[in-house]
Amino acid sequence: LKHFLTIDGLDKALLTEILDTAESFAEMSGHHVKKVPLLRGKTIVNLFFENSTRTRTTFELAAKRLSADVISMNIATSATSKGESLLDTIRNLEAMFVDMFVVRHGTSGAAHFIAEHTAPHISVINAGDGRHSHPTQAMLDMFTIRQFKPNFSTLRVAIIGDILHSRVARSQILALNTLGAAEVRVIAPKTLLPAHVETLGVTVCHNLTEGLKDIDVIIMLRLQKERMTSALLPSESEYFKCFGLTPEKLEIAKPDAIVMHPGPINRGVEIDTRVADGPQSVILRQVSNGIAIRMAVMSMAMQTQGAA
Ligand code: CP
Repeated sequence: LKHFLTIDGLDKALLTEILDTAESFAEMSGHHVKKVPLLRGKTIVNLFFENSTRTRTTFELAAKRLSADVISMNIATSATSKGESLLDTIRNLEAMFVDMFVVRHGTSGAAHFIAEHTAPHISVINAGDGRHSHPTQAMLDMFTIRQFKPNFSTLRVAIIGDILHSRVARSQILALNTLGAAEVRVIAPKTLLPAHVETLGVTVCHNLTEGLKDIDVIIMLRLQKERMTSALLPSESEYFKCFGLTPEKLEIAKPDAIVMHPGPINRGVEIDTRVADGPQSVILRQVSNGIAIRMAVMSMAMQTQGAA
């Protein structure tokens, strides 16, 4: 695990090792926890070219809990606004003896590009690239699912909403299939599904009421308006009527189904506030679990570097 760029190609044993490592950190990731010295002397730079609340903050907290020196660069006020290229930015940061880059970028493949061009001793962690991949989000989601439903082989999981633009959904589908979920069902209007979506290893449904039957885990997604052309953008009230998760629709799923959302949530668009804040919602648990998962991924990547 020198870099962590995608779930694609990772096997069940490695994903389970990440989950188990995160479990060992989970108890100590409460707010009163002392630091562990695993990454003392290491320097981590958060490079977020796209906005973030959860991912950036939990990466920063995770790095601090591991005793690393961490810098979250403010890209808006950096020299990229003066025309400095991505590679020149990376080379200048390398000259400051950085050990790891955590990268979020609007372009699919940006983290891979940096990993290919950065110095060999540096790890790159993908914190979300375009529509392509958000692997630590998928792993914190798997971690959260495992806390409530430990046996993946019996699980039917529904991912609902804007699958077309969602790097989170792509990474979740890969992780769920690798961990052996019984079914991954995507529920969305045809306009918000990628072409040939079945080839990703999912079943497809266009009707929320039908699609929620027998479901153990419900994952809601927001409409990613920033990646949509106006022609694709549905009316919010119409979308909520057809695909919004209300308490009444939630009753169609299994009675002990959990409700997840990677955030940010748009109340009254894809999810009713009574569901988002209701007893079956584990949305804020997902956020908390981001710290332990990111501690696991960063420490495993650094161990690989140390062994190389
Ligand atoms: N889930 C997620 O990636 O949220 P942020 O955009 O706030 O990081």
